[in-house]
Amino acid sequence: MKRNPESVLNVLGKTQYLDDLPENAGMLHAAVVLSPSAHGRFSGLDTAAALAMDSSVRVVVAADIPGQNELGTAVFDEPLLAAGEWHYHGQVLALVLASSRSLARKAAARVAVQGAEQLPAVTDPREAAARGNIILSPRTQRSGDVDTAFLACDVVVSGRVESGGQEHVYLETQGAIAWPDDSGGVRLLSGTQSPSGVQKIVARVLGLPMNLVEVETRRLGGAFGGKEDQATGWAALAALGAVVSGRPVKINLNRRDDMVATGKRHPYSSDFRIGLKKDGTILAFEADFYQNSGAATDLSPAIIPRTLFHAAGAYHIPNVRVTGTMCRTNLIPFTAFRGFGGPQGFFVIESAIDAAARALGIEPADIQRRNLLSDGDEFHYGMVAEDPRAKETMERCLAKADWNKLRADIRDFNAAHAGLKRGAAATPVCFGISFTKIMMNQGGALVHIYNDGSVGVSTGAVEMGQGVGRKIALVVADALGIPDSKVKIETTRTVTVANTMPTAASTGTDINAMAAKIACDQLRARLDALAKDRPGLDFVQLVALAHEQRVDLSAHAFYATPGLHYDLATEKGKPFHYHVYGCAVVTATLDVLRGTYQFDDAFIVHDIAHSIDPVIDRGQVEGAFAQGLGWAALEELAFGADGRLLANTLSTYKLPDAHFMPRMDVEFLERPNPGTVANSKAVGEPPLMYGIAGYFAVLDALKAVHPDKPAFYDLPMTPEKALRFLSEEDSP
Ligand code: MTE
Ligand code: HPA
Ligand code: MOS
Repeated sequence: MKRNPESVLNVLGKTQYLDDLPENAGMLHAAVVLSPSAHGRFSGLDTAAALAMDSSVRVVVAADIPGQNELGTAVFDEPLLAAGEWHYHGQVLALVLASSRSLARKAAARVAVQGAEQLPAVTDPREAAARGNIILSPRTQRSGDVDTAFLACDVVVSGRVESGGQEHVYLETQGAIAWPDDSGGVRLLSGTQSPSGVQKIVARVLGLPMNLVEVETRRLGGAFGGKEDQATGWAALAALGAVVSGRPVKINLNRRDDMVATGKRHPYSSDFRIGLKKDGTILAFEADFYQNSGAATDLSPAIIPRTLFHAAGAYHIPNVRVTGTMCRTNLIPFTAFRGFGGPQGFFVIESAIDAAARALGIEPADIQRRNLLSDGDEFHYGMVAEDPRAKETMERCLAKADWNKLRADIRDFNAAHAGLKRGAAATPVCFGISFTKIMMNQGGALVHIYNDGSVGVSTGAVEMGQGVGRKIALVVADALGIPDSKVKIETTRTVTVANTMPTAASTGTDINAMAAKIACDQLRARLDALAKDRPGLDFVQLVALAHEQRVDLSAHAFYATPGLHYDLATEKGKPFHYHVYGCAVVTATLDVLRGTYQFDDAFIVHDIAHSIDPVIDRGQVEGAFAQGLGWAALEELAFGADGRLLANTLSTYKLPDAHFMPRMDVEFLERPNPGTVANSKAVGEPPLMYGIAGYFAVLDALKAVHPDKPAFYDLPMTPEKALRFLSEEDSP
């Protein structure tokens, strides 16, 4: 078995993350002063007590910013440092610098807010929408004629669905180091998925051209979307501190600050209406998604369309009307999180199917199987399904779980046991691959062959544990015809490959390995031209000859995903290069007395197409499923009515662990995906949606106790909600 060198370092604990690097003499450490409530006004900060602690202490505020005090990607509506007013609990009011980390944190704690006045806070997205507090305009995607179709249905069911937020809990918290530079600019090490994004904002904040801001990202100890946009502010603070002090500045949040002051997965509140024929054919589906966007725009305008694109799940529904509204509230600005709005869409259609199954007196799986996408079906956004693998993966998954026998066994078990009930559910997945913003589907690579035959590869890809570096190395080795041990993946730097996009949307390998392959093909062609006259030379000899003959051994290449188009006016087009399919069956056992449950088995069939590294891909499927199961049935991102985050430590925010996870049986559907690098498919996000099966597995067990009670769709499933359902009161 080939080993990923990065994984070996991780296992040995030898990987160097930002905070493991040796510190420079004279480096200052930064801490932050955070807003004390969800919404308020202030006249200033009393810094006397902090400054009195040590001569190295310095407090940096909004007025110290030489350029624009603004963060954002498309809409710049978030200040780097609050001035006069704060809009959520945990907003940064000031940056405190000191000679040591502990001194900086102690000094930050002594900065007092002056003239504070509490303002009313809105935390509920529907309330925000009712008050007109929305970001940009709502978006609606439609196909067919929903209103007429509902009239032709045998049953029409409507309902309400809630899904909670999710904390990323990357192991490495947010951080950056900035060095002032004799060019008048800054050099940065940033824990970001988007070095060019950091470069752009740091330049804006400092009032510098981009060429005076150099950003390097070595690797991330996990990101999961939490560092696509939200690493930028911390890097900008470090850069600001470096410019103001003239010294290197390092910022690295402690866990509690990271949990309080960084964005998470968006909570959603949604309404649905679904119409079916008696046989379970879905004719019409309608949904209204109220996205709790938090206090600033951040990536919400890219996330809401992904919810809408996935609102019909893995199904073909001829009449669809779905609307997404970004609701501005006084919570932390919510951000990218693995799945990027897709999971929230999936949970609503799966809830609708569950409710419809009850109304029709059939099983949810009967509806699911009857409506899965077929070849040539048109999605509600106009794209046509090509080689859809929904039926194939679901049928294989049900066979793997021995579905009919499983249902019979569960019925027998439940009839024989009063104190324990078992349940099972299947969730089919179809996830579109490409950034929802077409412009972002581009990337570059720079490949050097050194004259000893070793190879260095730079791309825009950021390694965050997902193995993108390893996959690029394998693709490069294959393209050049050399062992992968000869290939080094360089850190990601804005001076090497410029204007890159975040490593996100699961496209890291699709885009960057493809760009690297194109560069390698150019190099290979140059070497092959030489080899024609000199047969029998090996790679190292050929490279030496090329150098001797003054042939360029470096190549830069660019890749832009072909064929994408989208018309915002009609909400139709081809937003995705292709789709990834799959299915999970999850089983659970419920303790009827306590409302507690455990997950027993998970059967997964995943559309991998061709796996560039099967060990990495298996890890991605299992890891994403664990993260999805945590979102669906464990992790409760609790905010108080006053908008303060209650789940602000790992003692109050529960994560999946080995005991929580079921036995996992993962199988790959291997059929090449033409038109991608190595005929592969992206794998990073799609398997997260398999976790949704866990919610419905517990719900299935709950229904065995109270078959006549209406179900509830309020994710995450928690023992508390289960117990309330069991205790005969109203549904939670
Ligand atoms: N896997 C690990 N170990 N750590 C991560 O931070 N991020 C996920 C996924 N898998 C992540 C991960 C997310 S949100 C995305 S979009 C993809 O990896 C990004 O990398 P890729 O495009 O190279 O798959
Ligand atoms: N996924 C992740 N990040 C993004 C996307 C997307 O679809 N679009 C813009 N940023
Ligand atoms: Mo992933 S949420 O696209 O970083």
